[in-house]
Amino acid sequence: MNIPFGSEEARQFITNVGLITTNGPIGHNISADEWTHHISYSPGLIAICIHKEDATAQNILKTKEFGVNLAAVDQNIISSIAGRSHGFDVDKISALKEFGVEFFKSKKINVLMVKNSALSIECKVIKHMKLGDHITFIGKAIYVHPLSGKQPLLYHSGKYFKIGKQIIKPKKSVLKNIETLVEKYRRKR
Ligand SMILES: Cc1cc2nc3c(=O)[nH]c(=O)nc-3n(C[C@H](O)[C@H](O)[C@H](O)COP(=O)(O)O)c2cc1C
Repeated sequence: MNIPFGSEEARQFITNVGLITTNGPIGHNISADEWTHHISYSPGLIAICIHKEDATAQNILKTKEFGVNLAAVDQNIISSIAGRSHGFDVDKISALKEFGVEFFKSKKINVLMVKNSALSIECKVIKHMKLGDHITFIGKAIYVHPLSGKQPLLYHSGKYFKIGKQIIKPKKSVLKNIETLVEKYRRKR
């Protein structure tokens, strides 16, 4: 079955937005990637899923490296600009610079990183595979930049959000009941 783009089902997911920076045959480039996931602690691995026709995929296939910059809560415009045109047609980095967005040079790879993102990590690709209609690139973290202190932007149902109210924990008595229930159904191993 399909889970089509823009469908109510696809819109149930909540994600970060990775601002993916690359530098290859297309030159320096940036794209927006909601499918940016931390998938291992040790080593630190990040999976990104990129449409195979995108400039970002072409750059990464050649250089085997990319920058992950999690968009901060005040960087939704960067995401919109990065996600609405292709690096083949538009020098998005120059457009963003003229708009006032600051970039800095990476330490261990050869891309530009986005200043003041929620988290910036330099990655080297250890594996890539075509899965469905996108290519999944698994990047190994090789340099983690100091945190900016900004909160990450949330993406849901085609719109941007900021982190809101925390759900209050159940009362102690309810927690106790849950503990008892879990014990009752603990499997014998
Ligand atoms: C918020 C947002 C999230 C996106 N997430 C993805 C994604 O996870 N994977 C993808 O291939 N494209 C995603 N896109 C679309 C790409 O960013 C878009 O196609 C972009 O033009 C690709 O640029 P490039 O050709 O320079 O790589 C997203 C766009 C936006 C605005």
